[in-house]
Formats: sequence, structure tokens, C-alpha cells
Amino acid sequence: MKNPFTYSNIVTGPYFCNRKKEQDDLLEFIRASQNVLLYSHRRTGKSSLIKQVFLNIKHQSPDIGTLYIDLYGTTSEKEFMTRVFQQLNVLETNTDKLLNLLKSSINKFSFQISVDPATNSPTITPAFKSADESLVLKNLMELLVKFSTKRKIVIALDEFQEVGKYANADSFEKQLRSYIQQQSNICYIFSGSQQHLLTAMFQSQNRAFYQQASSYPLKQIETEHYIPWMEKLFNDGSLSISKANLKRIVERFENHPMYIQLFCFFLWRELQHESWNDQTVNMIERVMIDQKHLEYQTLWDNLSINQKKTLKLVLMNDGQNLFAAEELTIVNIKTASIVTRCLKTLSEKEILVKNGNYIIQDLFLKKWLALNA
Ligand SMILES: Nc1ncnc2c1ncn2[C@@H]1O[C@H](COP(=O)(O)OP(=O)(O)O)[C@@H](O)[C@H]1O
Ligand SMILES: [Mg+2]
Repeated sequence: MKNPFTYSNIVTGPYFCNRKKEQDDLLEFIRASQNVLLYSHRRTGKSSLIKQVFLNIKHQSPDIGTLYIDLYGTTSEKEFMTRVFQQLNVLETNTDKLLNLLKSSINKFSFQISVDPATNSPTITPAFKSADESLVLKNLMELLVKFSTKRKIVIALDEFQEVGKYANADSFEKQLRSYIQQQSNICYIFSGSQQHLLTAMFQSQNRAFYQQASSYPLKQIETEHYIPWMEKLFNDGSLSISKANLKRIVERFENHPMYIQLFCFFLWRELQHESWNDQTVNMIERVMIDQKHLEYQTLWDNLSINQKKTLKLVLMNDGQNLFAAEELTIVNIKTASIVTRCLKTLSEKEILVKNGNYIIQDLFLKKWLALNA
């Protein structure tokens, strides 16, 4: 039997744990045509949640069309638009119809249409010059409106913070907003993980997307929801783990879905030939930390000496009491203003987050630092 746990892919269906309330909430936003800003730290499950909601819509509410756009890695308006064009086949799988729609909506640029052999659906690749970008955006938006005359459409723009990094972000955001505001039958889910960038985009008065969406922070999955989900997946493979042990796993990984998946992936493998014992957990955790070694080492090497000291200070003191003279002496930092400055930079790099106290965002970085720094 195939290992049911997976940590590098978006998960849906039986591999997707609970989030019933979040699924209902998102559907309610969509039904009310209310744009929503879905945000959380990285790897909390935003993309998986969106995909799960879209899957539900596909099965239960085919009166709503869904379009999922992953903006990760896009660096310009042009790439943004290309990504959207390339997904349009999801809304219209019939090549002839799609072609007709394109012909009637697009006036000044060319595009290639090819058929993806895997899905047998048409893929559009537009070709246009930077000078024509505004026109292409207009055409694209008109095309979306055409799709939305037949049925409501929900568009997820995942990793939306990337838009704020484009060279012409300000004017692109303004154009985008003005189109979005006119689209009465299209609802948007803006999703992203670099909180300071997203908050700046949606909460600063001088930005185009100021108050354009309801905020929906995604929290961790609760322990009581994890336990039956894990239990079922292990049981399906004839492996049984007590509820108490499942609870220990969830707590040890602080309810973090990716790390719990990763741990269960290894545990599943281990239990194929060994029975559970207390060393298993430690051993697997060690393997997980080792896997991250290179990534964390690079991160560490790229920090300044004072940032390294500040990170040690946070680790040692659990994020509290970071400015006391005697604490600074222990890590050999000269002044509290250095700490202030480094805390700011480390937060901008998303290594630390302020949640009352400063905490190290990535649980495994914390575990790695405790062993290596
Ligand atoms: N509801 C869930 N149930 C089980 N595992 C999940 C769930 N949500 C996320 N995960 C796990 O966490 C990983 C990261 O989720 P993802 O949706 O990519 O997060 P994000 O988009 O917030 O970065 C997934 O690959 C999966 O292993
Ligand atoms: Mg994601």
C-alpha cells in the first residue's frame, strides 16, 4: 500500500485533514461575492485549503467556475498575465469555443493555442510586447467578464504578495483594482504568506488594494481534528497507534501540518518493519532535522554576526526579556538598540514573528539552532 502521507504536494480529499469550518467560511465568502485575503505563515495549508474548496465546488456547485492561479515565481506584470491566460482552459475546455472567445476579445496581440496531451485541454500562450501590457490586461479582464456572464467565477490568486514586488507594482495594482471593482460576478481569493508585504498591500491607505478584501488569517489545525484523521490513515494501512501517541506527535510538532505530514510519512515507513517505541520519534525527528541541514546552514551563513547573536538570544530566552543588560552580556551584544535593529531585520526576513513575544517561525529551524548554533 502506498504511503498516504505526503509533505511536498498540495493535499485534498482523504489526505486533507478537517478544516471544515474554514471550507464553509470560504464558500460563504464566495457565495456572497466577497473578496477575501487568506494569509498565514508558509506551509500552513492555504493552497491545499483553496484546492479543497474548489474541488467541493466542482462536485457540489458546478454553477460556480473556479480558477486557481499560482503567482509564485512571477516577477512581472507580463508573467502575471501569462499565468492567467495559461489557466483559462479550466474555464473553457472546448478548444473551438475558447478560440472563438479569444478572437472576439483580443484585438492587438497574438497568441498560440496548443493542446496539452495530458489533459487534452487547450493551453494559451500569449505573445505581446511590454508596451502593450495595459491593453492586454484590459483584454484579459474583458475575457474574464465574458466567462462570468454565464456563471459566477471565483479566482484564487495564490502568493499574491509577489505582485507587490513587481517593478511597476503601484500602477499595476491600481489597474488591477479598477477592473476587479467592476466585476460583479467574479469573486477573488487573494492568498499569500509574506505577511508584512500583504498587510502593506491591503492595509496601507496609500495602496490600491487598501480594504479591498476581508481578512481571513488561517490558523493551525486543532489537535482534536488531527487525531481521527491520522488514526484513519494509519488504520487503513493496518497500522495502529494509540490516541495518546498521536496526540504526542501533534503536540511535538506544534500542530504544523507540513511537519506532521512529514513525520507521519517517515513513521509509516518505519512501522512497516518495526513496532512503535519511544526512540522512534526521536530518531525520525533527527532525520527530519538533518534533511534541512543545508538549507538552514545557508540561512545561518547569510546572517550578520549581530543577527546570529540576536537569534541565539531569542532561542535562549524563548523570545522574552530580550533587552535586559545581563542577557545581552551573555550573548555578547553591546547595546539594546542593536537587538532592536536585528529583531526588525529578522522579522523582515520572516525568520522571527512577533506574537506577543518574538518566536522563531520555523519550528525545525528552532530545533536545528538548538543543536547547531
Ligand atoms: N488540511 C491539511 N491536512 C493535511 N495536511 C495538510 C493540510 N494542509 C496542509 N497540509 C500539509 O502541509 C503542506 C503545506 O501546505 P500548503 O497548502 O502548501 O501550505 P501553504 O499554501 O500555506 O504554504 C502540504 O504539502 C501538506 O503536506
Ligand atoms: Mg501555498
